[in-house]
Amino acid sequence: MAIRKLLRMGDDRLYNQSTIIKDIHSNKTQALIDDLIDTMRHYGGAGIAAPQIGELQRVFIIESNNLSRYPNAEPIPLTVLINPIYEILSEQQEEDWEGCLSVPGYQGLVSRYTHLRYQGYGRDGQMIEREVSGFHAKAIQHENDHLNGILFPMRVEDIRNFGCDDSIWKRLYPKQSYPEDRKQKVRKIWDFD
Ligand code: NI
Repeated sequence: MAIRKLLRMGDDRLYNQSTIIKDIHSNKTQALIDDLIDTMRHYGGAGIAAPQIGELQRVFIIESNNLSRYPNAEPIPLTVLINPIYEILSEQQEEDWEGCLSVPGYQGLVSRYTHLRYQGYGRDGQMIEREVSGFHAKAIQHENDHLNGILFPMRVEDIRNFGCDDSIWKRLYPKQSYPEDRKQKVRKIWDFD
């Protein structure tokens, strides 16, 4: 178990296709999952995919309780998804502001499908299948994109809707000050070695 270094946008490894995991029960895969959980929780993300810590393997995790970034999001229990796939259940899309641990300090407006069915394997090798909507559905699309080398800024249609987290915050909530927890989060990830 370890908190791993996050790869940030610009690193070539984030733009690669990840490979299928063949042995879910191996120590290597199980250790990778532990590291993903530790790293996501340490940096306060709602999800993280293996390529973000430099492992080009098809696994991501999602979890959300009460994040200031997504105050209206319904909670998602810790979910580990290995070799995931999803199917869109409605052509309907919705725009929302997204962030990413690999794009620290920024947010952008991205259009995502609102309703989908996904499946993949849990860390115990059992198949997980869920039909989801809203924030949960968006999180799946965001994380699955990482496995295909896509970062959310690549999906922002108008670059004016991509910007520094605090500037966009002021645009969206002119009467509220920029929250302290968001400042701390950005500082934490921007710790150069
Ligand atoms: Ni991300």
